[in-house]
Amino acid sequence: MLQQRTIDNDPAFESLLRKIRRERGLDCNQYKSAFLQRRLAVRLRARGVKSYRAYTRLLDDEEYDQLFDALTINLTHFFRDATTFVALRDRVLRPMLGLKAQQGRRQFRAWSAGCASGEEPYSLAILLHQMLGAQIEEWQIRILATDLDQRRLEQAQAGVYSPFSFRGTQWPDMDRFFVTTRHGHTIVPQVKRLVRFRRHDLIGEEPPGRFDLILCRNVLIYFTRLQQVRLCRAFHSALMPDGVLVLGKTEILPGEVAGLFEPVDLREHIYRSQ
Ligand SMILES: C[S@@+](CC[C@H](N)C(=O)[O-])C[C@H]1O[C@@H](n2cnc3c(N)ncnc32)[C@H](O)[C@@H]1O
Repeated sequence: MLQQRTIDNDPAFESLLRKIRRERGLDCNQYKSAFLQRRLAVRLRARGVKSYRAYTRLLDDEEYDQLFDALTINLTHFFRDATTFVALRDRVLRPMLGLKAQQGRRQFRAWSAGCASGEEPYSLAILLHQMLGAQIEEWQIRILATDLDQRRLEQAQAGVYSPFSFRGTQWPDMDRFFVTTRHGHTIVPQVKRLVRFRRHDLIGEEPPGRFDLILCRNVLIYFTRLQQVRLCRAFHSALMPDGVLVLGKTEILPGEVAGLFEPVDLREHIYRSQ
C-alpha cells in the first residue's frame, strides 16, 4: 500500500517530517522526495512496520541514529575519485599556491562541506603535504571540515580508519601519513593539525567563512534543485576572488548559477568563481 501512495500531501508523512524537524532540527524537505521515500522505505522494512504513522510512533533515539545513517548515506573514502585530486593538484593548487608564494601570501583556506567521517579533508591535507614538502611549515593552512552528522564528525576527529576507508584508493605514497596499530590506521599529527571539524548545516546556516577552495562533493545530489541553487550562490559568496569550487562527479552546477563560475575542468566538475 505504501508503495502505491505518493508521499506528497500524505498527512502521516507530513506528521513524521514535522516530528523529525521538531525533535532533531532536520528539515527533510531538503531532500528530493523520491530519495526520501526510498530511504524511509528501507527503515520501515527494517522495523517491520507498514505505515508512516506506525514508524512515527516507534521513532526513538536509537531509530533516529539508524534513520540519519540511511538518509545521509555518509560513505566516503580517501582520495575518492582520484582523477579529481589530480586535476585539483595540477590545475588548481599548483598555480594558486605558486601565485600566493610569489606574492608572499602563504595562506590557504579550504572548506570541505559535507565531509562525513573526514577522509576528504584529510586527503586534501595529505595532498598539500605531498606538494609542499618541508616548505609546508612556511604556510598557514587551514582546512575547515563540516557536516551535519555529529557521529561522523566524532569519527573524523578521532582520525582512526579501517581498511574500508581505503577501498578503491589509488594514491601514491600514503603510508607515511598514517600510523598503523591494532586499532586501525591513525592519521599523523602533522596532517591532522591542518584540519578542524565542526557541525554545520548547509541548508540552514550561512557559510562559515571565506575560502580559497570549497569541496562539496556528493552532497548536493540529496538536495532539491532550489536548494542546490541557493547553496551554490552561498558558495560563490564564500569564495575569495578566483576561489575554486569542486562538486562531485555526479553533480552538475545548476544552470541558474552558471554565470557566477567559469569551468576549470568540466570533466572533474571544478569551477572558478567569477
Ligand atoms: C556521501 S557523503 C560525502 C562525503 C565526501 N564529501 C565525499 O564525497 O566522499 C554526504 C555527506 O553530506 C552530509 N550532509 C547531508 N545533508 C547535509 C546538510 N544539510 N548539511 C551538512 N552536511 C550534510 C551527510 O551527513 C554526509 O556525511
